[in-house]
Amino acid sequence: MAHRTTRLRATEITARKGTAFPVMTAYDAPFARCAEAAGIDVLLVGDSLGMVVLGYTSTTPVDLEDMIRHTAAVVRGTKTAHVIADLPFGSYEASDADAVTSAIALVKEGSASSVKLEGGAEMAARIAAIVGAGIPVCAHIGLLPQTAPIGDGFALRRDRDALLHDAHAVADAGAYAVVLEVVEADIAAEITSQIAIPTIGIGAGPSCDAQVLVLHDVLGLYPDPPKFAKAYANLANDATNALRAYAGEVRSGAFPPRRVPR
Ligand code: KIV
Repeated sequence: MAHRTTRLRATEITARKGTAFPVMTAYDAPFARCAEAAGIDVLLVGDSLGMVVLGYTSTTPVDLEDMIRHTAAVVRGTKTAHVIADLPFGSYEASDADAVTSAIALVKEGSASSVKLEGGAEMAARIAAIVGAGIPVCAHIGLLPQTAPIGDGFALRRDRDALLHDAHAVADAGAYAVVLEVVEADIAAEITSQIAIPTIGIGAGPSCDAQVLVLHDVLGLYPDPPKFAKAYANLANDATNALRAYAGEVRSGAFPPRRVPR
């Protein structure tokens, strides 16, 4: 089979509806390279960046400049992956024009393949405006981390009618896929069966078309992962042990090695 040389397009992601596929967050070139080497071809530069990389306690402080810098790094670390960039809090809520301007910056300066924004029916006009500017949009409904601390909190979302309404609204507005975050599994299954675009679940049960997790939770690099996440490694331990070994060798004089006399 010929290797592809171009990045996966949003339309190809939509065409995966009904086929399970993995999505992973990424924030820098080295880990993006690892994800692509592992066969993951949809990478999300989430504004979870703020918590897992920048050390904030929420995603709220992340700004457009942060997102552009880290999106560009993920793009530089990959060749054919589709790179979704989050529109950070404050960069799209005020108007359709703001949303389009911010989305263009992520594509133009960050080389994003598409953008993601949080919100359901209330964001339909924003989604349509960005899609109208030629930029594919991944929607995000259910738990919305950008406003959860000052809004509805972090509990499981189980308002079936509101969630179905939001899912149809974002699909009708032109989104090519939709993230369902912390949505009751039966409702996520119902949404997945009703809309024509792929659902990408996170804490939303096994019936979504795709699954996404936060890289640092999967690799055991974040000290406070959500209950639904699964760690496939403990890189925090591995890194600490490697650094302890280095520190010990410097203190003992074992590193660097003495030059062997000729
Ligand atoms: O910011 C992020 O990582 C996200 C995922 C949790 C879907 O939006």
